[in-house]
Amino acid sequence: MEILGIDVGGTGIKSAIVETATGELLDEKHRIATPRPATPRAVAEALKSLLEHHRWKGPAGVGFPAAIQHGVARTAANVDKAFIGLPVSEYFSRETGRRFFAVNDADAAGLAEMRFGAGKENAGVVLIVTIGTGLGTALFSGGHLLPNTELGHVLLENGQEAERYASEAVRVNRNLKWKEWGERLNLYLRAMENLLWPDLIVLGGGVSDKLHKFSPALTTQAPVVAARFLNRAGIVGAALFAEEALRGI
Ligand code: BGC
Repeated sequence: MEILGIDVGGTGIKSAIVETATGELLDEKHRIATPRPATPRAVAEALKSLLEHHRWKGPAGVGFPAAIQHGVARTAANVDKAFIGLPVSEYFSRETGRRFFAVNDADAAGLAEMRFGAGKENAGVVLIVTIGTGLGTALFSGGHLLPNTELGHVLLENGQEAERYASEAVRVNRNLKWKEWGERLNLYLRAMENLLWPDLIVLGGGVSDKLHKFSPALTTQAPVVAARFLNRAGIVGAALFAEEALRGI
């Protein structure tokens, strides 16, 4: 099935038409800046411009940087607080005139990696961490997703919130060297390992293609691999989520 996959991030919104049977992108990935402030209305306008860009009239899946419980946003760490309590899927559908299905962005990335990517056929515990403006997590066991884990907000042993200590935004804003930032990420991944004992850790987001630069700093027992779809995982997974919703899976 062809579905428009959209990944709303704290700084950019990316989209492409996805063939859900293979995870392949059927057109060029498009990116626009996330509006500031990222109010519901401003994000809906941005989504409309993406629909126009792709000349898309079909359904769309949208990975959104918030806990999304049955289509309703429950948190809003890197978007406007007006999203909290908003039925995001319904709202975007109404504003754009297309069917929208919203899912947490990291869960979306995880769905793509488990179906076609780094976690394919892994029946164990897989932790996907997406690294961008925030730190997003998706947790799978036996191929099943435990939705809306917000484990980027845990407090580390140094008392800092993980996302404010080891995100990509922190690396860029503080101009950290890969080794220095890798050590920060390692503190986080070790904390996750001590709590969850994953068999595999998959890293997504903008830094996933730079893993070789910071992997020497990582000391978890579980192997750490890059998302196969790199920073496209969120787009592909959002489309997969919409497909499952449409099929009523
Ligand atoms: C949000 C998560 C999101 C992550 C990555 C966090 O700030 O709370 O819902 O998955 O950022 O975008």
